[in-house]
Amino acid sequence: MTLGQKESWGSRVGLILAMAGNAVGLGNFLRFPVQAVNNGGGAFIIPYLVCFLLMGIPLLWIEWSMGRFGGRSNNHSTPFILDSMTKKAFWKYFGVFGIFTNIAVAAYYCYIESWTMSYVWHSIIGTFDGMSQTQVAQFFANYVDIDKSLTGIPYEAVVFYVLCLLLNTFILSRGLAGVERAAKIGIPLLLVFGAFLAIRGLTLGTSGASPEVPNASAWDGLNFLWTPQYSSLSDPKVWLAAAGQIFFTLSVGMGTIHCYAAYVRSKDDVALNAVSAGFTNEFVEVVLGSSIVIPIAAGYLGLDWVKENAGFGMAFQTMPFLFEKWGPILSTVAGVMWFGLLFFAGITSSLAMGTPWMGFMRDEFGWGRNKGAWSFGAIVLALGLPTVIFFEHGVFDEYDYWAGTVSLVVFALAESILFAWVFGIDKGWKELLSGSDLKVPTVYKFIIKYITPLMLLLVFLGALFTPTENDWTAAFHSMFSGNGWTLDNASILKTIANSGLHEQLAQASDPVEVARITDRLFYTNMARGLLTFTFAALAFLVYIAANRRLRSTTPADR
Ligand code: PHE
Repeated sequence: MTLGQKESWGSRVGLILAMAGNAVGLGNFLRFPVQAVNNGGGAFIIPYLVCFLLMGIPLLWIEWSMGRFGGRSNNHSTPFILDSMTKKAFWKYFGVFGIFTNIAVAAYYCYIESWTMSYVWHSIIGTFDGMSQTQVAQFFANYVDIDKSLTGIPYEAVVFYVLCLLLNTFILSRGLAGVERAAKIGIPLLLVFGAFLAIRGLTLGTSGASPEVPNASAWDGLNFLWTPQYSSLSDPKVWLAAAGQIFFTLSVGMGTIHCYAAYVRSKDDVALNAVSAGFTNEFVEVVLGSSIVIPIAAGYLGLDWVKENAGFGMAFQTMPFLFEKWGPILSTVAGVMWFGLLFFAGITSSLAMGTPWMGFMRDEFGWGRNKGAWSFGAIVLALGLPTVIFFEHGVFDEYDYWAGTVSLVVFALAESILFAWVFGIDKGWKELLSGSDLKVPTVYKFIIKYITPLMLLLVFLGALFTPTENDWTAAFHSMFSGNGWTLDNASILKTIANSGLHEQLAQASDPVEVARITDRLFYTNMARGLLTFTFAALAFLVYIAANRRLRSTTPADR
Protein backbone atom coordinates (compact mmCIF):
# COMPACT_ATOMS: atom_id res chain seq x y z
CA MET A 1 0.00 0.00 0.00
CA THR A 2 2.94 2.35 0.44
CA LEU A 3 2.96 3.43 -3.15
CA GLY A 4 -0.59 4.65 -2.93
CA GLN A 5 -0.04 6.46 0.31
CA LYS A 6 2.75 8.57 -1.08
CA GLU A 7 1.29 9.51 -4.37
CA SER A 8 0.56 13.22 -4.76
CA TRP A 9 0.65 15.93 -7.38
CA GLY A 10 4.03 16.98 -8.77
CA SER A 11 3.53 20.73 -8.52
CA ARG A 12 0.92 23.36 -7.93
CA VAL A 13 0.87 24.29 -11.61
CA GLY A 14 0.44 20.63 -12.46
CA LEU A 15 -2.42 20.30 -10.01
CA ILE A 16 -4.24 23.37 -11.28
CA LEU A 17 -3.78 22.33 -14.89
CA ALA A 18 -5.02 18.85 -14.11
CA MET A 19 -8.05 20.24 -12.28
CA ALA A 20 -8.70 22.73 -15.05
CA GLY A 21 -8.35 19.88 -17.53
CA ASN A 22 -10.81 17.87 -15.50
CA ALA A 23 -13.36 20.68 -15.68
CA VAL A 24 -12.68 21.99 -19.18
CA GLY A 25 -14.19 19.44 -21.46
CA LEU A 26 -16.60 18.73 -24.24
CA GLY A 27 -19.17 20.41 -22.03
CA ASN A 28 -17.51 23.78 -22.58
CA PHE A 29 -17.47 23.65 -26.35
CA LEU A 30 -20.38 21.44 -27.27
CA ARG A 31 -22.89 21.45 -24.45
CA PHE A 32 -22.68 25.09 -23.36
CA PRO A 33 -23.45 26.75 -26.71
CA VAL A 34 -26.32 24.39 -27.33
CA GLN A 35 -27.81 24.93 -23.87
CA ALA A 36 -27.45 28.67 -24.25
CA VAL A 37 -29.15 28.77 -27.64
CA ASN A 38 -31.94 26.40 -26.65
CA ASN A 39 -32.68 28.40 -23.53
CA GLY A 40 -33.02 31.74 -25.21
CA GLY A 41 -29.42 32.95 -25.55
CA GLY A 42 -29.13 36.03 -23.36
CA ALA A 43 -31.94 34.63 -21.23
CA PHE A 44 -29.65 31.83 -20.14
CA ILE A 45 -26.67 33.87 -19.07
CA ILE A 46 -27.96 35.42 -15.83
CA PRO A 47 -29.28 32.21 -14.28
CA TYR A 48 -26.08 30.57 -15.43
CA LEU A 49 -23.86 33.09 -13.65
CA VAL A 50 -26.01 33.07 -10.53
CA CYS A 51 -25.78 29.28 -10.42
CA PHE A 52 -22.03 29.54 -10.80
CA LEU A 53 -21.72 31.86 -7.80
CA LEU A 54 -24.28 30.22 -5.52
CA MET A 55 -23.85 26.56 -6.37
CA GLY A 56 -20.74 26.13 -8.50
CA ILE A 57 -18.18 27.91 -6.35
CA PRO A 58 -19.56 26.58 -3.05
CA LEU A 59 -19.59 23.03 -4.39
CA LEU A 60 -16.04 23.40 -5.61
CA TRP A 61 -14.99 24.46 -2.14
CA ILE A 62 -16.98 21.68 -0.52
CA GLU A 63 -15.50 19.03 -2.80
CA TRP A 64 -11.93 20.24 -2.58
CA SER A 65 -12.16 20.42 1.21
CA MET A 66 -13.75 17.00 1.47
CA GLY A 67 -11.15 15.52 -0.84
CA ARG A 68 -8.17 16.88 1.05
CA PHE A 69 -9.79 15.89 4.35
CA GLY A 70 -10.34 12.32 3.17
CA GLY A 71 -6.90 12.10 1.61
CA ARG A 72 -5.38 12.83 5.00
CA SER A 73 -6.73 9.53 6.29
CA ASN A 74 -5.70 7.93 3.02
CA ASN A 75 -9.07 7.78 1.32
CA HIS A 76 -9.13 8.67 -2.36
CA SER A 77 -12.64 8.02 -3.51
CA THR A 78 -15.99 9.25 -2.33
CA PRO A 79 -17.39 6.22 -0.47
CA PHE A 80 -14.75 6.37 2.21
CA ILE A 81 -14.12 10.10 1.96
CA LEU A 82 -17.75 10.54 2.97
CA ASP A 83 -17.36 7.79 5.53
CA SER A 84 -14.41 9.57 7.13
CA MET A 85 -16.60 12.61 7.79
CA THR A 86 -19.38 10.98 9.73
CA LYS A 87 -20.11 8.09 12.05
CA LYS A 88 -23.24 7.05 10.20
CA ALA A 89 -22.55 4.02 8.05
CA PHE A 90 -25.01 4.70 5.24
CA TRP A 91 -23.21 7.75 3.89
CA LYS A 92 -20.59 5.64 2.25
CA TYR A 93 -23.29 4.22 -0.02
CA PHE A 94 -24.09 7.72 -1.22
CA GLY A 95 -20.42 7.82 -2.06
CA VAL A 96 -21.02 5.06 -4.63
CA PHE A 97 -22.32 7.82 -6.87
CA GLY A 98 -18.84 9.29 -6.97
CA ILE A 99 -17.47 6.19 -8.68
CA PHE A 100 -20.56 5.15 -10.60
CA THR A 101 -21.16 8.49 -12.29
CA ASN A 102 -17.61 8.60 -13.56
CA ILE A 103 -17.70 5.15 -15.06
CA ALA A 104 -21.10 5.68 -16.67
CA VAL A 105 -20.27 9.14 -17.99
CA ALA A 106 -16.91 7.88 -19.28
CA ALA A 107 -18.77 5.23 -21.27
CA TYR A 108 -20.55 7.72 -23.51
CA TYR A 109 -18.16 10.64 -23.09
CA CYS A 110 -15.29 8.64 -24.55
CA TYR A 111 -17.50 7.89 -27.51
CA ILE A 112 -17.71 11.58 -28.40
CA GLU A 113 -14.05 11.90 -27.61
CA SER A 114 -13.37 9.16 -30.14
CA TRP A 115 -15.32 11.10 -32.79
CA THR A 116 -12.97 14.01 -32.26
CA MET A 117 -9.98 11.72 -32.75
CA SER A 118 -11.42 10.38 -35.92
CA TYR A 119 -12.32 13.84 -37.20
CA VAL A 120 -8.77 15.09 -36.64
CA TRP A 121 -7.67 12.20 -38.79
CA HIS A 122 -10.25 12.88 -41.48
CA SER A 123 -9.35 16.57 -41.50
CA ILE A 124 -5.72 15.68 -42.10
CA ILE A 125 -6.38 13.25 -44.92
CA GLY A 126 -8.79 15.69 -46.52
CA THR A 127 -11.97 13.62 -46.35
CA PHE A 128 -14.17 16.71 -46.16
CA ASP A 129 -12.54 18.53 -49.08
CA GLY A 130 -15.14 19.53 -51.61
CA MET A 131 -18.04 17.98 -49.71
CA SER A 132 -21.38 19.76 -49.64
CA GLN A 133 -23.15 20.49 -46.38
CA THR A 134 -25.41 17.49 -46.90
CA GLN A 135 -22.46 15.27 -47.63
CA VAL A 136 -20.66 16.28 -44.45
CA ALA A 137 -23.83 15.61 -42.49
CA GLN A 138 -24.23 12.27 -44.23
CA PHE A 139 -20.65 11.38 -43.41
CA PHE A 140 -21.50 11.75 -39.75
CA ALA A 141 -24.70 9.75 -40.13
CA ASN A 142 -22.75 6.94 -41.77
CA TYR A 143 -20.02 7.15 -39.20
CA VAL A 144 -22.37 6.53 -36.28
CA ASP A 145 -24.45 4.29 -38.54
CA ILE A 146 -27.72 6.10 -38.12
CA ASP A 147 -29.10 4.52 -41.26
CA LYS A 148 -27.92 1.09 -40.20
CA SER A 149 -25.58 -0.54 -42.63
CA LEU A 150 -25.91 -4.22 -43.56
CA THR A 151 -24.15 -5.57 -40.51
CA GLY A 152 -25.56 -3.06 -38.04
CA ILE A 153 -22.13 -2.38 -36.57
CA PRO A 154 -20.43 0.96 -37.22
CA TYR A 155 -16.93 -0.49 -37.63
CA GLU A 156 -15.00 2.72 -37.87
CA ALA A 157 -16.74 4.14 -34.84
CA VAL A 158 -15.93 1.00 -32.85
CA VAL A 159 -12.27 1.10 -33.90
CA PHE A 160 -11.82 4.71 -32.86
CA TYR A 161 -13.71 4.11 -29.64
CA VAL A 162 -11.41 1.26 -28.71
CA LEU A 163 -8.35 3.31 -29.68
CA CYS A 164 -9.56 6.17 -27.55
CA LEU A 165 -10.09 3.89 -24.55
CA LEU A 166 -6.66 2.36 -25.03
CA LEU A 167 -5.06 5.77 -24.99
CA ASN A 168 -6.95 6.75 -21.84
CA THR A 169 -6.06 3.50 -20.16
CA PHE A 170 -2.42 3.82 -21.08
CA ILE A 171 -2.13 7.33 -19.66
CA LEU A 172 -4.01 6.32 -16.53
CA SER A 173 -1.62 3.44 -16.01
CA ARG A 174 1.15 6.02 -15.60
CA GLY A 175 -0.68 7.34 -12.53
CA LEU A 176 -1.04 10.97 -11.52
CA ALA A 177 2.15 11.85 -13.36
CA GLY A 178 0.51 10.71 -16.59
CA VAL A 179 -2.58 12.77 -15.92
CA GLU A 180 -0.48 15.80 -15.05
CA ARG A 181 1.58 15.41 -18.21
CA ALA A 182 -1.51 15.15 -20.39
CA ALA A 183 -2.89 18.34 -18.84
CA LYS A 184 0.39 20.19 -19.24
CA ILE A 185 0.40 19.43 -22.95
CA GLY A 186 -3.33 19.50 -23.62
CA ILE A 187 -4.48 22.65 -21.84
CA PRO A 188 -1.99 25.13 -23.38
CA LEU A 189 -2.57 23.69 -26.85
CA LEU A 190 -6.30 23.87 -26.35
CA LEU A 191 -6.04 27.52 -25.36
CA VAL A 192 -3.97 28.35 -28.43
CA PHE A 193 -6.29 26.50 -30.80
CA GLY A 194 -9.32 28.00 -29.09
CA ALA A 195 -7.93 31.53 -29.31
CA PHE A 196 -7.22 31.11 -33.02
CA LEU A 197 -10.70 29.85 -33.80
CA ALA A 198 -12.37 32.39 -31.54
CA ILE A 199 -10.58 35.28 -33.25
CA ARG A 200 -11.67 33.85 -36.54
CA GLY A 201 -15.24 33.61 -35.21
CA LEU A 202 -15.20 37.11 -33.79
CA THR A 203 -13.77 38.73 -36.89
CA LEU A 204 -15.99 36.96 -39.38
CA GLY A 205 -18.64 39.68 -39.19
CA THR A 206 -20.86 39.70 -42.25
CA SER A 207 -18.13 38.53 -44.60
CA GLY A 208 -19.59 35.03 -44.67
CA ALA A 209 -22.99 36.07 -45.98
CA SER A 210 -23.72 34.38 -49.30
CA PRO A 211 -26.49 35.01 -51.86
CA GLU A 212 -28.50 32.17 -50.25
CA VAL A 213 -28.20 33.66 -46.79
CA PRO A 214 -27.69 37.36 -47.49
CA ASN A 215 -28.20 38.58 -43.94
CA ALA A 216 -25.94 36.09 -42.16
CA SER A 217 -23.73 37.74 -39.58
CA ALA A 218 -21.45 36.35 -36.89
CA TRP A 219 -22.41 39.33 -34.72
CA ASP A 220 -25.99 38.12 -34.57
CA GLY A 221 -24.75 34.97 -32.90
CA LEU A 222 -22.81 36.90 -30.29
CA ASN A 223 -25.56 39.43 -29.67
CA PHE A 224 -28.03 36.66 -29.21
CA LEU A 225 -25.85 35.06 -26.55
CA TRP A 226 -24.82 38.22 -24.78
CA THR A 227 -27.87 40.45 -24.65
CA PRO A 228 -29.33 39.64 -21.22
CA GLN A 229 -33.05 39.05 -21.08
CA TYR A 230 -34.62 39.44 -17.71
CA SER A 231 -37.94 37.82 -18.55
CA SER A 232 -36.40 34.37 -18.21
CA LEU A 233 -35.52 34.89 -14.56
CA SER A 234 -38.86 33.52 -13.49
CA ASP A 235 -38.70 30.46 -15.72
CA PRO A 236 -37.68 27.36 -13.75
CA LYS A 237 -36.87 25.52 -16.94
CA VAL A 238 -34.07 27.94 -17.73
CA TRP A 239 -32.82 27.70 -14.15
CA LEU A 240 -32.75 23.91 -14.30
CA ALA A 241 -30.83 24.00 -17.53
CA ALA A 242 -28.40 26.56 -16.14
CA ALA A 243 -27.82 24.55 -12.98
CA GLY A 244 -27.34 21.38 -15.01
CA GLN A 245 -24.75 23.07 -17.18
CA ILE A 246 -22.88 24.42 -14.17
CA PHE A 247 -22.66 20.95 -12.63
CA PHE A 248 -21.55 19.30 -15.80
CA THR A 249 -18.99 21.86 -16.80
CA LEU A 250 -17.36 22.21 -13.39
CA SER A 251 -17.44 18.42 -12.90
CA VAL A 252 -19.12 18.90 -9.54
CA GLY A 253 -21.38 16.24 -8.10
CA MET A 254 -19.26 13.59 -9.83
CA GLY A 255 -16.58 12.56 -7.36
CA THR A 256 -13.62 13.43 -9.58
CA ILE A 257 -12.77 16.62 -7.76
CA HIS A 258 -12.77 14.82 -4.42
CA CYS A 259 -10.43 12.27 -5.87
CA TYR A 260 -7.99 14.80 -7.34
CA ALA A 261 -8.08 16.83 -4.14
CA ALA A 262 -7.37 13.74 -2.07
CA TYR A 263 -3.88 13.75 -3.57
CA VAL A 264 -3.22 17.32 -2.43
CA ARG A 265 -0.72 17.49 0.41
CA SER A 266 -2.53 18.02 3.66
CA LYS A 267 -1.13 21.49 4.36
CA ASP A 268 -1.64 22.80 0.86
CA ASP A 269 -4.22 25.36 -0.11
CA VAL A 270 -7.58 24.29 -1.46
CA ALA A 271 -9.58 27.54 -1.40
CA LEU A 272 -7.53 29.42 -3.98
CA ASN A 273 -6.84 26.35 -6.08
CA ALA A 274 -10.54 25.63 -6.34
CA VAL A 275 -11.31 29.16 -7.45
CA SER A 276 -8.45 29.21 -9.95
CA ALA A 277 -9.54 26.00 -11.59
CA GLY A 278 -13.17 27.11 -11.52
CA PHE A 279 -12.49 30.47 -13.13
CA THR A 280 -10.24 28.94 -15.75
CA ASN A 281 -13.12 26.71 -16.68
CA GLU A 282 -15.54 29.63 -16.86
CA PHE A 283 -13.15 31.64 -19.00
CA VAL A 284 -12.83 28.78 -21.44
CA GLU A 285 -16.57 28.21 -21.41
CA VAL A 286 -18.02 31.70 -21.71
CA VAL A 287 -15.25 33.29 -23.72
CA LEU A 288 -13.94 30.54 -25.98
CA GLY A 289 -17.00 28.29 -25.85
CA SER A 290 -19.32 30.99 -27.07
CA SER A 291 -17.01 32.51 -29.68
CA ILE A 292 -16.53 29.53 -31.96
CA VAL A 293 -19.47 27.39 -33.08
CA ILE A 294 -22.27 29.91 -32.70
CA PRO A 295 -20.72 32.97 -34.39
CA ILE A 296 -19.13 30.92 -37.15
CA ALA A 297 -22.35 29.05 -37.89
CA ALA A 298 -24.41 32.26 -37.65
CA GLY A 299 -21.89 34.05 -39.86
CA TYR A 300 -22.41 31.63 -42.72
CA LEU A 301 -25.84 30.16 -42.22
CA GLY A 302 -27.64 32.87 -40.28
CA LEU A 303 -28.94 33.00 -36.73
CA ASP A 304 -32.24 31.38 -37.61
CA TRP A 305 -30.45 28.33 -38.89
CA VAL A 306 -28.48 28.15 -35.63
CA LYS A 307 -31.61 28.38 -33.52
CA GLU A 308 -33.30 25.63 -35.47
CA ASN A 309 -30.32 23.33 -35.63
CA ALA A 310 -28.63 23.93 -32.30
CA GLY A 311 -27.52 20.53 -31.16
CA PHE A 312 -24.67 18.48 -30.50
CA GLY A 313 -24.18 17.40 -34.09
CA MET A 314 -23.49 20.97 -35.19
CA ALA A 315 -19.84 20.59 -34.33
CA PHE A 316 -19.44 17.45 -36.41
CA GLN A 317 -22.05 17.85 -39.11
CA THR A 318 -21.55 21.50 -39.97
CA MET A 319 -18.18 22.80 -38.88
CA PRO A 320 -16.05 20.80 -41.36
CA PHE A 321 -18.21 22.17 -44.16
CA LEU A 322 -17.89 25.75 -42.96
CA PHE A 323 -14.12 25.45 -42.57
CA GLU A 324 -13.91 24.56 -46.26
CA LYS A 325 -14.85 28.12 -47.04
CA TRP A 326 -11.50 29.18 -45.67
CA GLY A 327 -9.53 27.66 -48.53
CA PRO A 328 -7.71 24.34 -48.72
CA ILE A 329 -4.86 24.95 -46.29
CA LEU A 330 -6.66 26.94 -43.66
CA SER A 331 -9.57 24.51 -43.67
CA THR A 332 -7.26 21.63 -42.83
CA VAL A 333 -5.59 23.68 -40.12
CA ALA A 334 -8.93 24.77 -38.71
CA GLY A 335 -10.27 21.21 -38.78
CA VAL A 336 -7.23 19.89 -36.94
CA MET A 337 -7.41 22.74 -34.43
CA TRP A 338 -11.14 22.44 -33.79
CA PHE A 339 -11.25 18.67 -33.40
CA GLY A 340 -7.84 18.68 -31.73
CA LEU A 341 -9.11 21.19 -29.21
CA LEU A 342 -12.15 19.03 -28.55
CA PHE A 343 -9.94 16.01 -28.19
CA PHE A 344 -7.67 17.65 -25.61
CA ALA A 345 -10.65 19.03 -23.76
CA GLY A 346 -12.19 15.56 -23.76
CA ILE A 347 -9.22 13.46 -22.79
CA THR A 348 -8.16 15.60 -19.82
CA SER A 349 -11.72 15.09 -18.53
CA SER A 350 -12.07 11.40 -19.28
CA LEU A 351 -8.78 10.73 -17.52
CA ALA A 352 -10.28 12.34 -14.44
CA MET A 353 -13.19 9.91 -14.64
CA GLY A 354 -10.82 6.97 -14.30
CA THR A 355 -9.17 8.11 -11.10
CA PRO A 356 -11.96 7.51 -8.55
CA TRP A 357 -12.21 3.83 -9.51
CA MET A 358 -8.44 3.42 -9.44
CA GLY A 359 -8.17 5.21 -6.12
CA PHE A 360 -10.90 3.08 -4.62
CA MET A 361 -9.45 -0.22 -5.79
CA ARG A 362 -6.02 0.75 -4.56
CA ASP A 363 -7.18 1.96 -1.16
CA GLU A 364 -9.42 -1.02 -0.52
CA PHE A 365 -8.00 -3.93 -2.45
CA GLY A 366 -4.40 -2.91 -3.02
CA TRP A 367 -4.69 -2.82 -6.79
CA GLY A 368 -1.75 -1.13 -8.50
CA ARG A 369 -1.99 1.44 -11.26
CA ASN A 370 -1.86 -1.03 -14.09
CA LYS A 371 -4.56 -3.26 -12.73
CA GLY A 372 -6.65 -0.23 -11.82
CA ALA A 373 -6.29 1.42 -15.21
CA TRP A 374 -6.91 -1.69 -17.31
CA SER A 375 -9.89 -2.78 -15.28
CA PHE A 376 -11.33 0.71 -15.71
CA GLY A 377 -10.79 0.47 -19.46
CA ALA A 378 -12.49 -2.91 -19.56
CA ILE A 379 -15.54 -1.81 -17.56
CA VAL A 380 -15.95 1.32 -19.64
CA LEU A 381 -15.68 -0.73 -22.81
CA ALA A 382 -18.38 -3.13 -21.66
CA LEU A 383 -20.69 -0.33 -20.60
CA GLY A 384 -19.82 1.88 -23.54
CA LEU A 385 -20.16 -0.49 -26.47
CA PRO A 386 -23.96 -0.40 -26.26
CA THR A 387 -23.84 3.38 -26.66
CA VAL A 388 -21.68 2.95 -29.75
CA ILE A 389 -23.59 0.13 -31.39
CA PHE A 390 -27.08 1.20 -30.40
CA PHE A 391 -26.38 4.91 -30.62
CA GLU A 392 -29.53 5.82 -32.52
CA HIS A 393 -31.72 3.73 -30.22
CA GLY A 394 -31.24 6.18 -27.40
CA VAL A 395 -28.81 4.29 -25.15
CA PHE A 396 -26.45 7.24 -25.26
CA ASP A 397 -29.16 9.71 -24.24
CA GLU A 398 -30.27 7.46 -21.43
CA TYR A 399 -26.77 7.37 -19.94
CA ASP A 400 -26.46 11.11 -20.31
CA TYR A 401 -29.76 11.69 -18.56
CA TRP A 402 -29.29 9.41 -15.56
CA ALA A 403 -25.55 9.50 -15.04
CA GLY A 404 -24.64 12.85 -16.58
CA THR A 405 -27.55 14.86 -15.21
CA VAL A 406 -29.73 13.37 -12.47
CA SER A 407 -26.94 11.68 -10.50
CA LEU A 408 -24.98 14.91 -10.28
CA VAL A 409 -27.80 16.77 -8.64
CA VAL A 410 -28.57 13.94 -6.22
CA PHE A 411 -24.99 13.57 -5.16
CA ALA A 412 -24.33 17.30 -4.93
CA LEU A 413 -27.40 17.70 -2.73
CA ALA A 414 -26.31 14.85 -0.48
CA GLU A 415 -22.75 16.05 -0.09
CA SER A 416 -23.73 19.64 0.60
CA ILE A 417 -25.97 18.44 3.42
CA LEU A 418 -23.25 16.17 4.70
CA PHE A 419 -20.68 18.96 4.65
CA ALA A 420 -22.75 21.76 6.15
CA TRP A 421 -25.05 19.86 8.46
CA VAL A 422 -23.64 16.46 9.37
CA PHE A 423 -19.92 17.20 9.39
CA GLY A 424 -20.98 20.69 10.44
CA ILE A 425 -20.40 24.06 8.81
CA ASP A 426 -18.00 25.19 11.54
CA LYS A 427 -15.72 22.25 11.04
CA GLY A 428 -16.18 22.46 7.30
CA TRP A 429 -15.36 26.15 7.20
CA LYS A 430 -12.21 25.57 9.24
CA GLU A 431 -11.24 22.80 6.88
CA LEU A 432 -11.66 25.08 3.87
CA LEU A 433 -9.64 27.88 5.42
CA SER A 434 -6.79 25.75 6.69
CA GLY A 435 -3.70 26.41 4.59
CA SER A 436 -5.71 28.79 2.47
CA ASP A 437 -4.00 31.35 0.25
CA LEU A 438 -7.25 33.17 -0.31
CA LYS A 439 -9.40 35.20 2.01
CA VAL A 440 -12.70 33.48 1.47
CA PRO A 441 -15.55 36.00 1.89
CA THR A 442 -17.38 35.16 5.11
CA VAL A 443 -20.73 35.43 3.39
CA TYR A 444 -19.90 32.08 1.81
CA LYS A 445 -20.21 30.42 5.19
CA PHE A 446 -23.85 31.40 5.11
CA ILE A 447 -24.22 30.49 1.45
CA ILE A 448 -22.72 27.05 1.91
CA LYS A 449 -24.87 26.36 4.93
CA TYR A 450 -28.24 27.56 3.64
CA ILE A 451 -28.34 28.80 0.08
CA THR A 452 -26.46 26.07 -1.75
CA PRO A 453 -28.36 23.11 -0.22
CA LEU A 454 -31.64 24.96 -0.64
CA MET A 455 -30.99 25.72 -4.28
CA LEU A 456 -29.92 22.15 -4.88
CA LEU A 457 -33.09 20.94 -3.25
CA LEU A 458 -35.17 23.22 -5.45
CA VAL A 459 -33.38 22.07 -8.56
CA PHE A 460 -33.91 18.46 -7.59
CA LEU A 461 -37.58 18.89 -6.72
CA GLY A 462 -38.07 20.93 -9.87
CA ALA A 463 -36.70 18.13 -11.98
CA LEU A 464 -38.57 15.45 -10.07
CA PHE A 465 -41.96 17.14 -10.33
CA THR A 466 -41.70 19.20 -13.53
CA PRO A 467 -45.31 20.14 -14.33
CA THR A 468 -47.01 19.75 -17.69
CA GLU A 469 -45.52 21.92 -20.41
CA ASN A 470 -43.06 23.14 -17.81
CA ASP A 471 -45.68 25.72 -16.91
CA TRP A 472 -45.22 26.35 -13.21
CA THR A 473 -47.71 29.15 -12.86
CA ALA A 474 -50.46 27.02 -14.30
CA ALA A 475 -49.42 24.08 -12.16
CA PHE A 476 -49.61 26.07 -8.91
CA HIS A 477 -52.97 27.55 -9.92
CA SER A 478 -54.27 24.10 -10.64
CA MET A 479 -52.97 22.76 -7.34
CA PHE A 480 -54.44 25.57 -5.24
CA SER A 481 -57.78 25.29 -6.97
CA GLY A 482 -57.89 21.63 -6.02
CA ASN A 483 -57.20 20.16 -9.44
CA GLY A 484 -53.92 18.61 -8.50
CA TRP A 485 -50.52 18.74 -10.05
CA THR A 486 -50.02 17.21 -13.46
CA LEU A 487 -46.53 16.02 -14.25
CA ASP A 488 -44.78 16.60 -17.53
CA ASN A 489 -43.35 13.60 -19.34
CA ALA A 490 -39.96 15.21 -18.93
CA SER A 491 -40.17 15.09 -15.11
CA ILE A 492 -37.95 12.49 -13.50
CA LEU A 493 -40.98 10.65 -12.12
CA LYS A 494 -42.62 10.27 -15.50
CA THR A 495 -39.34 9.52 -17.19
CA ILE A 496 -38.87 6.58 -14.85
CA ALA A 497 -42.26 5.27 -15.89
CA ASN A 498 -41.43 5.85 -19.57
CA SER A 499 -44.74 7.70 -19.76
CA GLY A 500 -43.86 9.64 -22.90
CA LEU A 501 -43.04 6.52 -24.85
CA HIS A 502 -46.10 4.68 -23.59
CA GLU A 503 -48.32 7.56 -24.66
CA GLN A 504 -46.77 7.59 -28.10
CA LEU A 505 -47.26 3.85 -28.32
CA ALA A 506 -50.91 4.11 -27.40
CA GLN A 507 -51.48 6.68 -30.12
CA ALA A 508 -49.43 5.05 -32.85
CA SER A 509 -51.27 3.03 -35.47
CA ASP A 510 -48.63 2.71 -38.17
CA PRO A 511 -46.83 -0.63 -37.58
CA VAL A 512 -43.45 0.91 -38.44
CA GLU A 513 -44.00 3.56 -35.83
CA VAL A 514 -45.16 0.99 -33.28
CA ALA A 515 -42.04 -1.06 -33.95
CA ARG A 516 -39.85 2.00 -33.56
CA ILE A 517 -41.33 2.91 -30.19
CA THR A 518 -41.26 -0.65 -28.91
CA ASP A 519 -37.64 -0.84 -29.93
CA ARG A 520 -36.88 2.42 -28.16
CA LEU A 521 -38.56 1.15 -25.00
CA PHE A 522 -36.47 -1.98 -25.11
CA TYR A 523 -33.16 -0.13 -25.45
CA THR A 524 -34.13 2.44 -22.86
CA ASN A 525 -34.80 -0.27 -20.34
CA MET A 526 -31.68 -2.13 -21.31
CA ALA A 527 -29.60 1.00 -20.72
CA ARG A 528 -31.19 1.47 -17.31
CA GLY A 529 -30.61 -2.16 -16.48
CA LEU A 530 -26.92 -1.80 -17.26
CA LEU A 531 -26.61 1.35 -15.20
CA THR A 532 -28.48 -0.14 -12.26
CA PHE A 533 -26.34 -3.23 -12.39
CA THR A 534 -23.17 -1.13 -12.39
CA PHE A 535 -24.37 0.87 -9.43
CA ALA A 536 -25.34 -2.24 -7.50
CA ALA A 537 -22.03 -3.93 -8.23
CA LEU A 538 -20.11 -0.90 -6.99
CA ALA A 539 -22.26 -0.71 -3.87
CA PHE A 540 -21.47 -4.36 -3.24
CA LEU A 541 -17.75 -3.65 -3.53
CA VAL A 542 -18.13 -0.85 -1.02
CA TYR A 543 -19.93 -3.28 1.28
CA ILE A 544 -17.09 -5.79 1.00
CA ALA A 545 -14.53 -3.06 1.54
CA ALA A 546 -16.35 -1.87 4.64
CA ASN A 547 -16.34 -5.38 6.06
CA ARG A 548 -12.69 -5.77 5.33
CA ARG A 549 -12.02 -2.56 7.18
CA LEU A 550 -13.97 -3.82 10.16
CA ARG A 551 -12.02 -7.02 10.25
CA SER A 552 -8.71 -5.31 9.67
CA THR A 553 -6.63 -5.66 12.81
CA THR A 554 -4.77 -2.41 12.45
CA PRO A 555 -7.39 0.23 11.89
CA ALA A 556 -4.86 2.84 12.94
CA ASP A 557 -3.02 2.25 9.66
CA ARG A 558 -5.80 3.76 7.69
N1 PHE B 1 -16.54 18.87 -16.85
C1 PHE B 1 -16.41 18.04 -17.98
C2 PHE B 1 -16.90 18.80 -19.22
O1 PHE B 1 -17.21 19.95 -19.16
C3 PHE B 1 -17.16 16.76 -17.85
C4 PHE B 1 -16.72 15.84 -16.76
C5 PHE B 1 -17.61 14.98 -16.22
C6 PHE B 1 -15.44 15.79 -16.26
C7 PHE B 1 -17.26 14.11 -15.21
C8 PHE B 1 -15.07 14.95 -15.25
C9 PHE B 1 -15.97 14.12 -14.71
O2 PHE B 1 -16.95 18.26 -20.28
